[in-house]
Amino acid sequence: MGIRKSKAKSKKLSSINRGRPPLAKEQATNLSSKATRTLIRSHHNLQKAQKQALKDGEDARARDLEAEIVAKGGLMKYQLASRQGQCAERGGDSSRVLVKWLKPVFEKTQGNAQRLRLLEIGALSTKNACSGISCLDVKRIDLKSREPGIKEVDFMDMAVPEDGNKFHIISLSLVLNYVPDPASRGAMIARIPTFLEHSKAEQIIPALFLVLPLACVANSRYLTEERLSRIMRAVGFQLSRQKTTSKLYYSLWTFNATSMSRGHYEFKKEELRSGASRNNFAITMSSKNRD
Ligand SMILES: C[S@@+](CC[C@H](N)C(=O)[O-])C[C@H]1O[C@@H](n2cnc3c(N)ncnc32)[C@H](O)[C@@H]1O
Repeated sequence: MGIRKSKAKSKKLSSINRGRPPLAKEQATNLSSKATRTLIRSHHNLQKAQKQALKDGEDARARDLEAEIVAKGGLMKYQLASRQGQCAERGGDSSRVLVKWLKPVFEKTQGNAQRLRLLEIGALSTKNACSGISCLDVKRIDLKSREPGIKEVDFMDMAVPEDGNKFHIISLSLVLNYVPDPASRGAMIARIPTFLEHSKAEQIIPALFLVLPLACVANSRYLTEERLSRIMRAVGFQLSRQKTTSKLYYSLWTFNATSMSRGHYEFKKEELRSGASRNNFAITMSSKNRD
């Protein structure tokens, strides 16, 4: 498995924020795309700093950072920027890749009594490529709902569905890089399997559709594709599909409970690539935190 980079691109992978879809001018705001990139980067950095301040018990600093986040437009403004990136003319809407990869499954399911359940975590709109698939029941959630069809809930607090109501597909597109610290990212990945149906042999689903800015896996000091695969394997996922564009890393991970690691594992924040131009995106996970 290797990252296939398109030619013209790989120049500037150092910043994770470059991996975010670009912004559509017509919907925005009068911000230039440079100003918008700055806004996204600043939202991420403030969020990380606030999380760190809370961890260090610096409550006053955490409050100041929270106020700064709000003053800069908070999650709503960040979502607006991300949503603009989903415009078709900007090559956005990552769910088109999901639909393409799972087309054979959808065609097979068409007309069946049993529909497929999809959970979209971090949904900015009720209209994307998935909403056009008739055999899909899509449940959308986000920390901040922008439409009635999106339930406002933190995935980490969402009740685990009963057997028979679990999901066949979960979409986690450009969400993990929003989560501010490595351990919380690991915890999010580790929670996904509890929401998935059990697999039948030879099937590509149940599966997780994971999209990240390419820089998170291609230019991080602490995360490589190999490390990501090892983390995913520990919680029962095998890579089924993968593609990269100049900015994004798309992947589909099939879940099989029987291949979940029963032994000890520990993925720490450790340097896997050196170089001054690397970013610090990391995912940590330990079997000690296993339920
Ligand atoms: C960049 S947007 C993702 C947009 C969309 N999925 C896409 O691919 O373009 C990230 C979204 O993830 C949401 N998010 C982050 N952590 C979450 C969580 N724990 N539960 C639900 N939503 C979350 C944020 O509120 C934000 O709206």
